[in-house]
Amino acid sequence: QRHLLAIGDLEQHEIIDLLDRSEAMVAVSRQQRKSLSTLSGKTQINLFFENSTRTQSSFEIAGKRLGALVVNMSVKTSSVAKGETLIDTAATLNAMRPDVIVVRHGAAGAVELLSQKVGCSVINAGDGGHEHPTQALLDALTIRRHKGRISGLTVAICGDIANSRVARSNLLLLGAMNVRTRVIAPRTLLPVGIENLATEVYTDMNEGLRDVDVVMMLRLQHERASGRLIPSTREYYRFYGLDEEKLANAKPDAIVMHPGPMNRGVEIDPAIADGPRSVINDQVEMGVAVRMAVLDALLPDSEGGQA
Ligand code: CP
Repeated sequence: QRHLLAIGDLEQHEIIDLLDRSEAMVAVSRQQRKSLSTLSGKTQINLFFENSTRTQSSFEIAGKRLGALVVNMSVKTSSVAKGETLIDTAATLNAMRPDVIVVRHGAAGAVELLSQKVGCSVINAGDGGHEHPTQALLDALTIRRHKGRISGLTVAICGDIANSRVARSNLLLLGAMNVRTRVIAPRTLLPVGIENLATEVYTDMNEGLRDVDVVMMLRLQHERASGRLIPSTREYYRFYGLDEEKLANAKPDAIVMHPGPMNRGVEIDPAIADGPRSVINDQVEMGVAVRMAVLDALLPDSEGGQA
């Protein structure tokens, strides 16, 4: 079975192929009749152990636009709430013979573990602080559409880097595409060993944003904060919140991104989030296209060949 578990598993040519396929899916999604039938007869289960607005709904829309039967498992009302383990849940769903399971889980590595227990394709929709591969792909597609290219750009990722799977997947993807990356955060929100990664590290927002092409903002991940020092909201906004003054350091045509959910007035000024340089809603649109492309690439088509 073919899975998408991590950006770290992909070669540069595979990333480019998925972005090209996604481009075609943008065109499909913008037509009046937004559907294909390439996944007709396929069953897709969305299994989300953590909350989601964008990822879950866009995977559902993506599957439906390709003609799949899509089932959303509500973990809160499932037998997981009665103590059923991840492995038993996987075996139970596997017995229903799905073609693909899309999984979000709070523990890093849980999605890969599940992929070893089922007989279908598995897509990682975010596992703890490890990876969120479709987010990095949709971010790359958004950048490519706005900048006309990815390679050669300078991208700054700002905020709670330490436990951000979005930051991790983006650093891996952008690194594979020869992008110069910077991370900007207070020391307490940088992962141990960040100096060993191929990225430039800044603790000063104004310095880190100087002449960048893309500004990617992240929220404070309070749900993964145990044992870490999280600054107060007011203090954080003063030094790391993106406002006009700090954004003025970036290139005049720099775009502003955020994977969502946003905390307005904490990591980003609402005027920037809703302003002309924000591409946040485009990211959401690209999310559907990228997930259509990933489903289409992973699943053999209805005629039995590889899509
Ligand atoms: N970006 C992202 O993963 O958003 P959701 O948590 O709403 O899916």
